[in-house]
Amino acid sequence: MKKRIFTGLVLACMSILPTMAQWGRPVDYSAGPGLKDAYKDYFTIGVAVNKHNISDPAQIEIIKKQFNSVTAENAWKPGEIHPKEGVWNFGLADSIANFCRENGIKMRGHCLCWHSQFADWMFTDKKGKPVKKEVFYERLREHIHTVVNRYKDVVYAWDVVNEAMADDGRPFEFVDGKMVPASPYRQSRHFKLCGDEFIAKAFEFAREADPTGVLIYNDYSCVDNGKRERIYTMVKKMKDAGVPIDGIGMQGHYNIYFPEEEQLEKAINRFKEIVNIIHITELDLRTNTESGGQLMFSRGEAKPQAPYIGTLQEDQYARLFKIFRKHKDVIKNVTFWNLSDKDSWLGVNNHPLPFDENFKAKRSLQIIRDFDAAADNRVPKEDFVPNPMNQPGQEYPMVNSEGFARFRVVAPDAKSVIVSLGLGGRGGTVLRKDKDGVWTGTTEGPMDPGFHYYHLTIDGGVFNDPGTHNYFGSCRWESGIEIPAPDQDFYAWRKDIPHGNIQQVNFWSESTGKMQTANVYLPDGYGKLVKGKNGKLEQTRYPVLYLQHGWGENETSWPVQGKAGIIMDNLIADGKIKPFIVVMAYGLTNDFKFGTIGKFTAEEFEKLLIDELMPVIDKQFLTKPDKWNRALAGLSMGGMETKLITLRRPEVFGYWGLLSGGQYAPDEIKDPTVVKYIFEGCGDKENPDGINKSVADLKAAGYNAEGLISEGTAHEFLTWRRCLYQMAQSLFK
Ligand code: G3I
Repeated sequence: MKKRIFTGLVLACMSILPTMAQWGRPVDYSAGPGLKDAYKDYFTIGVAVNKHNISDPAQIEIIKKQFNSVTAENAWKPGEIHPKEGVWNFGLADSIANFCRENGIKMRGHCLCWHSQFADWMFTDKKGKPVKKEVFYERLREHIHTVVNRYKDVVYAWDVVNEAMADDGRPFEFVDGKMVPASPYRQSRHFKLCGDEFIAKAFEFAREADPTGVLIYNDYSCVDNGKRERIYTMVKKMKDAGVPIDGIGMQGHYNIYFPEEEQLEKAINRFKEIVNIIHITELDLRTNTESGGQLMFSRGEAKPQAPYIGTLQEDQYARLFKIFRKHKDVIKNVTFWNLSDKDSWLGVNNHPLPFDENFKAKRSLQIIRDFDAAADNRVPKEDFVPNPMNQPGQEYPMVNSEGFARFRVVAPDAKSVIVSLGLGGRGGTVLRKDKDGVWTGTTEGPMDPGFHYYHLTIDGGVFNDPGTHNYFGSCRWESGIEIPAPDQDFYAWRKDIPHGNIQQVNFWSESTGKMQTANVYLPDGYGKLVKGKNGKLEQTRYPVLYLQHGWGENETSWPVQGKAGIIMDNLIADGKIKPFIVVMAYGLTNDFKFGTIGKFTAEEFEKLLIDELMPVIDKQFLTKPDKWNRALAGLSMGGMETKLITLRRPEVFGYWGLLSGGQYAPDEIKDPTVVKYIFEGCGDKENPDGINKSVADLKAAGYNAEGLISEGTAHEFLTWRRCLYQMAQSLFK
């Protein structure tokens, strides 16, 4: 039975996978199609590999599933493959080529001419004396022809020249003691010997050797304003001179803060003017503020990565791939520079890739893969209004008629601001800072209707949004936002009807050794003397619904974000129910440690509820203190408590309700007479099939069971408001 209860609840909570992860159950983010399949209508997805990646079976499986393009990280570089004149080191180079040939994977050839890891012997003669450029060109030509002819059968694009342009940040340089405008070119041995002619030569030699291959000029920091223009100018000059440059390779050694979308698009649009092929050749996102392909970089510390850093990385990957998809007309390939954090040239502590050091997929892989193409071009309607749950005078957060939410936070010195409300399994909505230090951002799409808890994470610190009131959830007072719902009238205040009230009851709990609190909804007219059946004036007594919250919440959750009192007032005013009392107590849920769900018994709450709270309620209020006038229902973990307690103590409650809190099975109850009514509900983004089957099985076994599947909602309060609204109409009938 315990196992089934646990499974039922887990199924109910499937919509909150992150919580699943919290519950210690690892989530396989690589489950589903490979990246190459998800992007088959956009561009090829590649990876740079080393010898380990093509020899370890598990790593080979990842490569074959995820990628349809491979680059040799180092093995094909001149210094590695042609270390001396007449000496060729084809070992690993061939292995990688053969691996791709055997697995039908095409390659990017990296690289034929570069200032680093180059065959420096080409610059000197046997005596070490510098050679003339003509000699250099002969040697370069022979090198390029040898490599290209050896591999062009498996290669679709070549990084012919790599990183020949100067980096930003050095506008002037000293030449012969005079300060002169810095050369746009990297002052490499190639350039010093040949000027920029070596670039043209390299491309001509490559075209000679491979008449059809795509010939690429590859560089890093292409989004830097200066470098973008230097690359643009050089490639345009070369192409205008007939040099066969087919495309530009933007390496993409970025970080979680950089670049901003506008900057990246500016570079792509600029290069689009001169080439119709752009490859993102060496993508990785380090978790600090550094970027570029330079070898001088921080390797980071061996410490667990803060969760918000993961969210920033996921968000940055999502934003970059959205732009790559937008420009699929020119972007023909996106290659990750290394297979996993373990292989990364940046070192494992920079955590730069979608596979971690154990080759386990991170959530960023799922976020890159499971994109919503429709959302790519979605623009929110600009009819945003302040969120109804804002503090007085606070404009933000705002919501629009479609359900988009927009946030604004002033934090001039912060490096990152994340709103914990995100879409697509994303860890949150990452805001962007403007020049005045104001962070703004809009959810990527419409949120589910109804109430949502959230908080801000600013550079790793958790804060509430100063714009909203606070609501107790996730074991703390969180911010809250209300997204318009098509049926929101059933939980809206109505000025034209009588209203009940909610009283706070404090009572000593011997079992927990401390004072406990419950909020009690009393319908309008409670306590008034009315003429009874016997004609005498008497106070009406009422059935009682004990209504429980979920994990991380407390006795304020149903009255406030659940709007339980308003829902009851509206139901009574519309004559849909006879008035009854609703008791909303703290369910002892928040000391629960994730990962120990299997051991959860709810025995502590059973004792508090039945032996301590119910006597107080029956003593202090006009209740009908018997089983057939008493109901127990709960949401999420409160539902689990309800199921465990009602099955252990069927003599106490006559009406049972599970709201996203699992299901009952007939053979768990064994006797339809012990319960008058069973309600089970969840959101259609949770486990609707489980609910529908359970209700059908219960009905078939003779139970008075009713189910509700809340449209367009998940494990959230609008699901439970709708469940309360529906369930209440069948209680105490
Ligand atoms: O092959 C030698 C090996 O014999 C020796 O035992 C070992 C000891 O240090 O070094 C090995 O050489 C290393 C080589 O990678 C092969 O593993 C070099 O030290 C190391 O510096 C070199 O690093 C490579 C780096 O380029 C060189 O600049 C990185 O792995 C590689 O990821 C990186 O890739 C470049 C792209 O080609 C171009 N764009 C920037 C990108 C990052 O710098």
